Amino acid sequence: MSSAVRKLAVELGARSYPIRIGAGLLSDPTNWRDTLSGKQVLVVSDEHVAPLYLDRVVTGLHDAALSTLILPAGEAHKTLDSTTRIFAALAELNASRDATIIALGGGVIGDLAGFAAACWMRGIAFVQMPTTLLAMVDSSVGGKTGVDLPQGKNLVGAFHQPRAVIADTDTLSSLPDRELRAGFAEVIKYGALGDAQFFAWLETHADALLARDPHALADCIAHCCAQKAGIVARDETERGERALLNFGHSFGHALETVCGYGSLLHGEAVAIGMCRAARLSARLGMAADADSQRLRDLLTRFGLPTAIPAGTDADALLAAMRLDKKNASGRLRLILWRGVGRAEIAEGVDEGTIRELLRESG
Ligand code: NAD
Ligand code: GLY
Repeated sequence: MSSAVRKLAVELGARSYPIRIGAGLLSDPTNWRDTLSGKQVLVVSDEHVAPLYLDRVVTGLHDAALSTLILPAGEAHKTLDSTTRIFAALAELNASRDATIIALGGGVIGDLAGFAAACWMRGIAFVQMPTTLLAMVDSSVGGKTGVDLPQGKNLVGAFHQPRAVIADTDTLSSLPDRELRAGFAEVIKYGALGDAQFFAWLETHADALLARDPHALADCIAHCCAQKAGIVARDETERGERALLNFGHSFGHALETVCGYGSLLHGEAVAIGMCRAARLSARLGMAADADSQRLRDLLTRFGLPTAIPAGTDADALLAAMRLDKKNASGRLRLILWRGVGRAEIAEGVDEGTIRELLRESG
């Protein structure tokens, strides 16, 4: 195994699994081959990632009964139709209960392949090989899988933990700038929700991170994974604390749904959503305006949007928010904050106040 591999784990008893982060992990199968069981493997990837990295994975699988499936890229394809294509590929492979799916790509491929793994024969193994910053710091860890519906983001899905997360940081070299920046929205989220020290570290390391300094990036990814692994270990199925990971997401998911999947990237929508959550917190007297400003400044520094796109229908946003998975008994539940590093769950916020907030520009 490569020497500079950072190793973490998600501790879930018999379902615990490793997270390995490092440069060049995919090219050397000794970094991940031990995480596969059974002989049958389906590698699911997308049309942008496969030409760049599929060979590295396939080379390490010469002794497997192997099949590959390359899906179209992007959020618009995180659908039940794509899931059906994965089922068809599994059927073609005659995949049995000891088969493994490898998800090679960003969060879309990870969520889709994980969901198919959760459903096939009531659950088979899958391994996450994330290739975007967003997937490395967030979506590949924690076992949330699923697809979007026209009515709302991630409305159909399952909790299904991977067997391993193998994050090869070399793959980030080909990630388009806009996608890298979108990943930093989820990175900033970790500081905003529960780690003021990390938030401050991001303020001082923004330039290095944006320049893709490998050490800064690896530190950053490992820090986020450690924070998420801890939260998931304490609250796997989001009965409490895990909901905090959705800071900015009630607004963000509504924006993605209403603006059209793929129009705003997930991270961009989350960036705007975090700003609205901070603004609402200030309006409710929970936090100082200065904290909202500090968040907006950091997101702007990372090249992320902070305002709702002009012309977005506020009533449609509110309607989409009513379908958010955090809601209970028909009432909105939001993640707000008391300031940087101090997010909390808020119930019963007046819908009129939220509608007003959604109508504001800037
Ligand atoms: P994505 O999977 O669409 O990837 C972004 C784009 O980058 C795609 O076009 C992809 O083909 C391309 N790409 C990926 N890796 C590349 C590489 N190394 N080089 C060049 N191009 C590359 O998007 P994403 O931002 O990774 O993930 C967003 C999705 O993740 C959303 O659907 C969101 O809901 C989900 N998500 C899930 C969780 C979870 O806990 N399951 C958490 C956060 C986000
Ligand atoms: N990204 C939110 C979660 O995993 O809970």
